This record gives sequence, C-alpha cells and structure tokens, in this order.
Amino acid sequence: MPAPGFDLDGYRKRWQTEIDASLEQMLAHLAADRGCPSALLAAMRYSLLSGGKRLRPLIVLAATRACGGQEQAALGAGCALEMIHAYSLIHDDLPAMDDDDFRRGQPTCHRAHGEAMAILAGDGLLTHAFELLSHSVPEAVAARALSLLARAAGPAGMVGGQADDVAENQQMPSLAEVEFNHQRKTAALFAAAVALGGLIGGAGRDQAAALDDYGQAFGLAYQITDDLLAYQGDAETLGRPTGSDEIQDRKTHPRVAGLARSRQRTLSLVEDAILALRPFSEKADALIALAKLLASRV
Ligand code: IPE
Ligand code: IPE
Ligand code: MG
Ligand code: MG
Repeated sequence: MPAPGFDLDGYRKRWQTEIDASLEQMLAHLAADRGCPSALLAAMRYSLLSGGKRLRPLIVLAATRACGGQEQAALGAGCALEMIHAYSLIHDDLPAMDDDDFRRGQPTCHRAHGEAMAILAGDGLLTHAFELLSHSVPEAVAARALSLLARAAGPAGMVGGQADDVAENQQMPSLAEVEFNHQRKTAALFAAAVALGGLIGGAGRDQAAALDDYGQAFGLAYQITDDLLAYQGDAETLGRPTGSDEIQDRKTHPRVAGLARSRQRTLSLVEDAILALRPFSEKADALIALAKLLASRV
C-alpha cells in the first residue's frame, strides 16, 4: 500500500504553488467584477492569501489522486474549500469569538480591516466558495458536491461545532463531548475534502466510505494536535500568541484528557486514518504521507 519513498515536501510545494495561483486567479476575476467593492476584496484577499498551509485543498487533490484521477481536475474544488476555511478563521478570530489579534504571524483580519469588513469578508468567502464550486466540478456530481460541502460547513457541521465552543458552559465536558465538538468544527471540513476529491476522482462506494473514515480520523487528530501545540505554548509554530484557549476557557482535548492521553489519541487516530486507506492502490501515498506528517507534530 504505502510508497515509502513518497516525496511529500516536493508534492506539497508543487501543489501549494498551484493552489495559490488558482486562488489569485479567482480573486482577479472577482476584482474585474465592478459589483465587488475594493475594500471588501482587500479584506478577503488579506486572509485568503496570507500563507495558509493549504492542507484542505491538498487533501482534496490527494484524494482524487488516490482514486486514480488527476490532481488538476480537483484544483477548483480544493480552492472553494480553502475559501470556506479562510472564512471560518476570520470569524473564529473575531472579538465576539476567540478574540485573537494574530494569525499566521500577522494581525487578524478584523485588526487589519476593521470588524465590520472582516465579518463581510467571511460572508463573501463563504458564499463565493459555492459559486466557484458549482462550476469547478463535472455537472453530473455538482449537486452532490454543493450539498456535501454545505452540510459540512453548516449548522450540523463546522458552524455547529463553533457554536458549542462559544456556548457558556461552566462544567468540564466528557472526552466524548470534546471529540463530538471537534468532529463538527474541524473534522467535517476534512471529511468534505476527501469526499470532494473522491467525487472528482470517481470513487466507488467502498472507496468513498474509506475516504470518509480517513477524513474523520485525520480531522479529529488535526484539532487535537492544534490544541496540543497551543497548550504547550508553541507560539512560533502556530503564528500567534498561545494561551487563548485558557483565557476563553475553551475545553480542549489536552485540558480535559491531559497531554499524554491527547498525544496517544492523536497517534492512534493517525493509525486509523492510514488503515482506512486499505481499499486503495499505491496512489494513496500522498494521503498516507500527510497523515504521517500529522503524527510527527506531536
Ligand atoms: C487552523 O487550521 C484551524 C484548525 C482547524 C485547527 P490550519 O492549521 O489548517 O490553518 P492554516 O490555514 O494553515 O493557517
Ligand atoms: C478552529 O478552531 C476551528 C475553526 C476555525 C472552525 P480554533 O479556535 O481551535 O482554531 P485556532 O486555534 O484559532 O486556529
Ligand atoms: Mg475557536
Ligand atoms: Mg481560534
């Protein structure tokens, strides 16, 4: 199954460049539309092109590859998903939510463009993503793609998880509750990434189920890792000051389970993610390498 010699660094560099160029191009089209005010476009651009790791679009591409498809065919869908991710971060950082002043080593969108324009930039990225997705996938799968992404990003997915995070709750939740929150606020978009890649790559029923297992496990492990790094105070890796979860009294995995158990859980989820890829050929190499990279962060 795994191709041990897979060059993940090379793969990431190559496709991150393509993803960034596609995002640039999409914003250039928007700039040519006189309906979109320049101040709004500037705030959208500020967050979308500020050096994210592009992990979700990379996973869309890697899932298409796993199914035997061409990454190029999945670029538009990957970029649409990245817009939704960028919107989620802009809103996540707002004073009414996590109240963070820095992201990716730069002032957050609301610090640079004002709160009202940041809210609207998030709204703009969210809605524009669906317009783009609608003409980035073959017509035969467009309705399915739009619907799965709307569900993943919506009230029973990412937005639902975010709502739980801000709900005032004095009690420490159980670990199962924490993980249910992570499944929606973070894993839902990763599961959408592999589902979109699978749709574009022509995944069969077994492969689609396997991709979902991978996305769920990867996404949950990703949020635990992010919280572990923040908990351990790794501000440099994160590009922003740490301690925000404690200030906001967020009930993160390491705060509930302790560092050792959270680390262990991450490693076992990464193993689950890799095992899920059994129905695939050696073309699952990029997905496997991305999961292994996650394990190496904790
Ligand atoms: C940060 O996501 C938010 C979480 C879900 C933990 P990323 O770590 O993918 O953020 P960027 O886009 O690379 O900055
Ligand atoms: C990340 O939430 C999830 C979303 C933005 C949907 P966090 O609040 O844990 O992420 P960071 O730590 O600000 O990146
Ligand atoms: Mg948050
Ligand atoms: Mg946050």
